[in-house]
Amino acid sequence: MVGGVVVSVVSGSVPQSLLFCPQHLQSQLATRIVAGKRPAKKLHFTLSRSSHLRFSKVQTSPRQTSLHTMDVDLEANLEDAEKLKRGIAEFYDESSGIWEDIWGEHMHHGFYGPNSTVSLSDHRVAQIRMIEEALHFASVSEDLSMKPTSIVDVGCGIGGSSRYLARKYGAQCIGITLSPIQAQRAQSLAAAQGLQDKVSFQVADALNQPFPDGKFDLVWSMESGEHMPDKTKFVQELARVAAPGATLIIVTWCHRNLLSSEQSLLPAEQNLLKRICDAYYLPAWCSSDDYVRILQSLSLQDIKTADWSDYVAPFWPAVISSAMSWKGITSLLRSGWKTIRGALVMPLMIEGYKTGLIKFAIITCKKPS
Ligand SMILES: C[S@@+](CC[C@H](N)C(=O)[O-])C[C@H]1O[C@@H](n2cnc3c(N)ncnc32)[C@H](O)[C@@H]1O
Repeated sequence: MVGGVVVSVVSGSVPQSLLFCPQHLQSQLATRIVAGKRPAKKLHFTLSRSSHLRFSKVQTSPRQTSLHTMDVDLEANLEDAEKLKRGIAEFYDESSGIWEDIWGEHMHHGFYGPNSTVSLSDHRVAQIRMIEEALHFASVSEDLSMKPTSIVDVGCGIGGSSRYLARKYGAQCIGITLSPIQAQRAQSLAAAQGLQDKVSFQVADALNQPFPDGKFDLVWSMESGEHMPDKTKFVQELARVAAPGATLIIVTWCHRNLLSSEQSLLPAEQNLLKRICDAYYLPAWCSSDDYVRILQSLSLQDIKTADWSDYVAPFWPAVISSAMSWKGITSLLRSGWKTIRGALVMPLMIEGYKTGLIKFAIITCKKPS
């Protein structure tokens, strides 16, 4: 038991004295520490009940001592996480068919040139370009002897990236999603495209992946990170399944980086994100700086990040206009409430990008060899 002991903490690491704690408690703790805008130098932990962690910041710098206590109800957090997972699975079970009908097999933003005006078929090209730009940004080799051979697609949707990457590199690829309907559809598209020996799909949680350590030489997460309630655990799992020397690519929605004078987003910004979260089954957002801190705490190398918000600007207006088409409206009316509610908040995504609150971020790194 830790009760009453003051322990020194390096930002992002779990103190030795807590290593006996259950895994979920450790990662909760690491998240709190990493997400802290000012890394705490000393923290005071008390396990008040088996499911409660009392968390007091007692010293924030050698000169300054501030005392505040935060009670983390771990059981309630776990229940919330289960509820979120169910919501995500149901949301994609319900909406993936409509999306595929109108937009095809890729469920992510397109990457566009500046000031582009584009037709729907160009959007599909832009979605492929997004994959290519991400690979290029991460310096994934085109060289035959260095190209990836074993890939995991974390949060795979209906497998558009998995099939594209497997075909491009001649690699084996496994995709995971929370949605059983997506996994089934991904598998039948693979069979229809003659890729059944190269790709496979399963329902599995990105935060607890059913793979051994070091299995993959390319770890790919295209627009799934925003759904993860525990960003530290998410990145830890990506790093765990990565082979030594593997490339990790995370393309995800973030909120803007905070200024050094800020402790949090403005209330109006938080309110806008909350409305988006409710409709798209998203937990709290983080910034690309937060991701970088997590990657650094795990000693990952060659960390690179970029803000691609300007390159994706035409995407949401196009999604809205496709939803307003005759086909879009009739499909929406045949779908369920979750899909309709998702459609209703689309303008908030545009507002978020326009005000600079929402950022479309790419974050890449390598696992040390
Ligand atoms: C917007 S879709 C992106 C799909 C795909 N990456 C693409 O680009 O076409 C988000 C995906 O993340 C998956 N996802 C969300 N949370 C997840 C989790 N905890 N574990 C596994 N997959 C998850 C969803 O099931 C869905 O397939």
